[in-house]
Amino acid sequence: MLLKWILVILHIITAAAWFGLGLRLAGQARTVLSLDGEAQATLAEDGQQSVWLMNIFIVLTLVFSIGAFVAGGHFNVYGPVYHTSITLIVLLTLDQLFVIRPGWSTLLAHATGRADAGADAADSAKTRVAIGTGVGHLLWLVLLGLMFANRLVGAF
Ligand code: HEM
Repeated sequence: MLLKWILVILHIITAAAWFGLGLRLAGQARTVLSLDGEAQATLAEDGQQSVWLMNIFIVLTLVFSIGAFVAGGHFNVYGPVYHTSITLIVLLTLDQLFVIRPGWSTLLAHATGRADAGADAADSAKTRVAIGTGVGHLLWLVLLGLMFANRLVGAF
């Protein structure tokens, strides 16, 4: 039981960190494209650090949340709401690792002058970062709602 609550607290902290780190990312992607030279590379490298932390925090959230689910009694205790939550956290992790992360990598490649990342590639990478964070934050909010769904159903 203690282990479950430790994992519950940890998954909330790591999920919150992912959410907060992502808030400015789409705006920063736009700013990267409006800059050039050293300023552009510096902002792209700084954003890369945020994306790296987001990779870590989303994977930790996946691990801690499934850990809490298992420690709390898994399928014997938790119903459909939590099965949906597992699906959504997997989707959110895939969004981070395969939409947001490669999107920012292309922006960084563009800003540091790599030949294979021209203006068009950078522009679509900016869109990927914006869509990835937008969809990700939406999934996150749905997940937060699901965490309280059973209590809400009980309250009404
Ligand atoms: C964005 C992602 C998530 C956020 C912000 C979040 C947030 C929360 C919060 C605030 C609670 C406390 C709820 C309460 O005490 O009524 C909680 C509990 C819990 N969460 Fe999450 N959660 C997330 C994802 C997940 C996922 C994907 C799972 C996996 C199934 C999960 C499993 C659990 C479990 C097992 C509990 C304890 C429920 C209980 O036994 O009372 N969470 N979560």
